[in-house]
Amino acid sequence: MDYYRIKGGKKLKGQVRISGAKNAALPVIVASLLADGETVLKNVPDLKDIRTIIKVIEYLGAETDFNVETNTLRIMVNSIKNGEMPYELVKTMRASVYVMGPLLARLGEADVSLPGGCAIGERPVDIHLAGFEAMGASIQLEHGYIKARAKKMKPATFTMRQVSVGATANLMMGAVLTAGSTVLENCAMEPDVVDLGKFLNKMGAKISGLGTERITIEGVKKLSPVTYTIMPDRIEAGTYLLAGAITRGDVTLTHCVPEHIQSLIDTLKESGFTIETGESRVRIAPAKKPAGFMIKTLPYPGFPTDLQAPLMALATTIQGISVIIETIFENRYTHVGELRRMGADISIEGNTAIIRGGNRLMSAPIMMSDLRAGAALIVASLAAKGVTEIRRIYHSDRGYENLTEKLSALGADIRRVKGGTF
Ligand code: EPZ
Repeated sequence: MDYYRIKGGKKLKGQVRISGAKNAALPVIVASLLADGETVLKNVPDLKDIRTIIKVIEYLGAETDFNVETNTLRIMVNSIKNGEMPYELVKTMRASVYVMGPLLARLGEADVSLPGGCAIGERPVDIHLAGFEAMGASIQLEHGYIKARAKKMKPATFTMRQVSVGATANLMMGAVLTAGSTVLENCAMEPDVVDLGKFLNKMGAKISGLGTERITIEGVKKLSPVTYTIMPDRIEAGTYLLAGAITRGDVTLTHCVPEHIQSLIDTLKESGFTIETGESRVRIAPAKKPAGFMIKTLPYPGFPTDLQAPLMALATTIQGISVIIETIFENRYTHVGELRRMGADISIEGNTAIIRGGNRLMSAPIMMSDLRAGAALIVASLAAKGVTEIRRIYHSDRGYENLTEKLSALGADIRRVKGGTF
């Protein structure tokens, strides 16, 4: 297994181009199954999760051609079929549950592996299932598979008991071809959901209310394939901003949407960092004396849970106390033990983390437990004294395109070492 070797202490400086958004690309790729013909997706990041979802749609009948030089994914759909996907394929990625929407919409049946718990929490899919039931599907659980059947999908008004990115996206895809008007309440307002909605509308869907709590979908008979550019990855953008902040560097993100990371920008500004934003750029310059902060993770436009871990890494380097409250996932503090091994002073009480920052982090052998915990360890290592070796980096391969190249170009001393005995 490869590992990262990072020599900390270099101030990052320069520009970094933000890639396409993983969490927008995943549902958009699946949504291409809704139309026969050739869909062309641009700005698709070359990531492990993207490769997995491509295999998933190929399994269902699509043909694909992914040009990683140009980040262009061509998807050809002639006909699609339902079928129990091999567990090996879907177990690594919960986003495979997204196929339910398009399969139910087009075939009236979907067999999908019931996702298990994962490192960041239990992550049930009950809201997805309750929504499809409201739209007329019957749901059975058999041998670890969800078997959904609908002779005819019907329009419904459905209120999600909790804001869910995945359920909002899935139910939108399930409703676009259903005659009549479906109203989804308490929807996720995340830009990734909006991007999926824009893609579907470009295909001919009639979805209104994107980016608000109520989304209305007027069913259409047929969708047509289109060419579409995936939006920039706000979590990748936030991670590089934090890498700039923790090294007290001067980093400019390009090809991003500043508004998508407004909550992070506000937190960093309050702490004392200088941040300038342009149309598709964000620049961070060092703070003279950054101050501790308090944040709570919330659905968009609140502070994103996916940036909580790397933000905590930054907090460990700031003199004084910072407080972080995680409200989205119940087990999203798995980076804490590793940060403590690097010398961080963090205590956890329920879902609240109290960080007493200011002591310089030291290198230590550490291990990633999930994608964003991994981002925290990388960010921390960039500031730590000494050479840090980080293992289980397959987690960060799921969500950060060309990580070594991008950080090296900013002046970081990072190497991906092949193999190793760990
Ligand atoms: C998406 O996960 C993202 N994944 C996650 O990013 C992100 O952390 C999360 O949204 C929150 O922003 C993708 O887009 C592929 P949710 P998702 O449904 O859709 C509970 C990353 O690192 N819930 O909004 O699975 C759930 O357990 C990943 O890139 C139910 O109880 O998240 C959680 O507590 C990790 N029942 C909360 O809702 C359901 O049926 C929000 O989850 C669905 C969700």
